[in-house]
Amino acid sequence: MDGRLQVFAGNSHPRLAAQIMETLEAPLGRAVVGTYRNGETRVKLDENVRGSDCFAIQSICAPYDHHLMELLLMCDALRRASAARITAVIPYYGYAKQEKKTTGREPISAKLVANLLCTAGVDRVLTVDLHAPAIEGFFDIPVDHLRATPLLARHFRREVMESAVVVSPDSGGVARAEDFRVRAGGALAIISKRHPEPDATETLEMVGDVDGKVAVIVDDMISTGGTLVAAAELLKERGAAEIHAAASHGIFAGDALNALAASPVSRLFLCDTIPLPDAAPRQKLETITVAPLLAEAIMRIHKDLSISALFT
Ligand code: R5P
Repeated sequence: MDGRLQVFAGNSHPRLAAQIMETLEAPLGRAVVGTYRNGETRVKLDENVRGSDCFAIQSICAPYDHHLMELLLMCDALRRASAARITAVIPYYGYAKQEKKTTGREPISAKLVANLLCTAGVDRVLTVDLHAPAIEGFFDIPVDHLRATPLLARHFRREVMESAVVVSPDSGGVARAEDFRVRAGGALAIISKRHPEPDATETLEMVGDVDGKVAVIVDDMISTGGTLVAAAELLKERGAAEIHAAASHGIFAGDALNALAASPVSRLFLCDTIPLPDAAPRQKLETITVAPLLAEAIMRIHKDLSISALFT
């Protein structure tokens, strides 16, 4: 790719965008990403992008529709201004929970968002820990799907982990938890859960022994916190000595922060793909930045280098 590298950002996560640019040692592209008086989203690029290799950074997090619209309009503006290539950098890909129909008369929101991004002119996507890896296939363009597990696993000391148990809080997360266990050490336990209704969680059973051990729950996201809290309570009941957790995305919907504060989880390691709410219980929380990982991926994409090295 010969064109210049230019990076723009929406308003979803200014601090992460700034950290990425710090690592890239380049200024963020100048643009207005705001609102008209009538409430509609307004985007105006304030620099020439003709022939450039452009990146638009935006997490699709709350307020979801607004941040999605900012991203779509940024990409549309880049395309109409003759950018040579547009990569949507989406640290958190929202609307991913509805990636299939679970009953009749429902949308497949994750697919619709993929269609909207392509219609807006996106040529490739760079993202972190999609809720369901199959979402990659919703795009007919390249998707660079980074994993946060290597970053998170590095924060757990191997000598402690040798006698710990890595816990998947549901059957869908077993591969992620096993990948974490291989990197950090320890044994594996699996919880089965069910959702009696949307956003409500009930644990059913657990395979594995946590009695007297440090348990580390590994998940992709904490949304209502229902999964994390239900898993932690079951682990406590089964005799876990300490309960830690690691997750890629901290959404903290509804009462999740209070639920986390009151839960038996003593430490939670979270990536900064979404800004942390001000009220987050800092004494329990440690954030791990994905900025260097995303900066390195942006540079590698720009230079047409492999990014598989980032997975080790
Ligand atoms: C489930 O499939 C996911 O891996 C997470 O466990 C889940 O989305 C977390 O959501 P919540 O915090 O609302 O239980």
